[in-house]
Amino acid sequence: MKELFNRYVQEIETYIMFQIKQKTLELTPELIKKNRAPIGLDIGAPTDNPPKFVVDKLKEALDIDGIHKYSTPKGEAFFLEAIAQRMKNRFGVDVDPKTEICSLIGSKEGLANIVRELINPAVEDKDKEIILVPDPGYASYSQMLLVSGGLAYPIPLTMENNFMPDMEDVLASLRKDGYDEKKVKAVIINYPNNPLGATAPKEYYKKVVDFCKKHNYLLISDAAYCDMYFDESKKPISALEVEGAKDVTLEFHSFSKPYAMTGWRLGWVCGNKEALGMFAKQKSTIDTGLFKALQYAAAAVLNSDEGEAYIEQANKGFKEKQQILVEGFKKLGWSEKDFMVPDATFYLWLPIPNQYKTSKEFTDALLATSGIVAVPGSAFGKFGEGYVRISIVAPKDKLYEVIERMEKDGFTYTA
Ligand SMILES: Cc1ncc(COP(=O)(O)O)c(C=O)c1O
Repeated sequence: MKELFNRYVQEIETYIMFQIKQKTLELTPELIKKNRAPIGLDIGAPTDNPPKFVVDKLKEALDIDGIHKYSTPKGEAFFLEAIAQRMKNRFGVDVDPKTEICSLIGSKEGLANIVRELINPAVEDKDKEIILVPDPGYASYSQMLLVSGGLAYPIPLTMENNFMPDMEDVLASLRKDGYDEKKVKAVIINYPNNPLGATAPKEYYKKVVDFCKKHNYLLISDAAYCDMYFDESKKPISALEVEGAKDVTLEFHSFSKPYAMTGWRLGWVCGNKEALGMFAKQKSTIDTGLFKALQYAAAAVLNSDEGEAYIEQANKGFKEKQQILVEGFKKLGWSEKDFMVPDATFYLWLPIPNQYKTSKEFTDALLATSGIVAVPGSAFGKFGEGYVRISIVAPKDKLYEVIERMEKDGFTYTA
């Protein structure tokens, strides 16, 4: 049967997070026996329940006449209007609910669809169309390109470039590597970034918008973490705040992280009307939109006081957890100059101790010895090698236990 599937699907591996989950499951009985039951620092999702307000709204929606019938792929008018209002309230951005917004079954679905809509598939690397993707970056971007017959070319995010590289330098590297810049279709940016937690100011967004205009590329801004931040003065912005950004930009938003609604699978894309129209046209052949009751509840939470209070409270909790781990890792030998304390997201990005050759070797040892589940930096791209991503969402007592176990089991840091 395998040979019936296209070569891209044959080549791809199961998504890294599910691989880690499987490995953890296999090791669990042995780990429990030695008092090292797994603690998940791999999870990229809030662990609390969503706001009670939104759950109540969902219950209320279930009895509304017609709510159980098909919706439309773009979304119900009331849902799109609530999103337009959110974009206005949160970012001061105007988007037309009729032509510039489309609902998503989670932003992952939207990102996967936009990639395959842009790429004309090819087999040989030299023939492939290209999207520039952050590296380290969300592992799905390069996987999506692989299954679409395209090529992910890395935008290196390093401490040296302050995680905001000059895009012309990226194009210069691409040419040097023998690729044709005319094959580039789009640029993906993701601030606040997974896995680094890096944010970007408006000036950087402007540079990227100008770059995309100059070269006629689509700018894909992944704003999944825009509401997870710890410092009001560094509140993440929308790419669409840049004047004229709408000429070249589609921005992807998610309900998953800010409202702990990961399982609801809800998001939206907004921006350039023509690009949005193309996106929605293809989507209409693939899915029939979101359950209307979900849209009803989600629309209610978007611009509500309850939603805002929830986000504020959740971010306060994440900051406290971040501090526990930052202090803990310092005790274990990591110093301030070895890693950045992010202003946003629920991740920490640490260099691995020097006795490990690869990040995978380190995370495998951490799991097998101490039952601590973390994600090797290499999962996020070639510039992620040598690092480990730590998620801070676990309960506080578990975070203290992580540091205790690492200390006892000899996982200290030497550069
Ligand atoms: C950077 C980034 N973008 C998008 C997503 C997808 O989120 P969802 O599909 O739940 O909206 C994630 C999930 O972890 C992510 O880390």
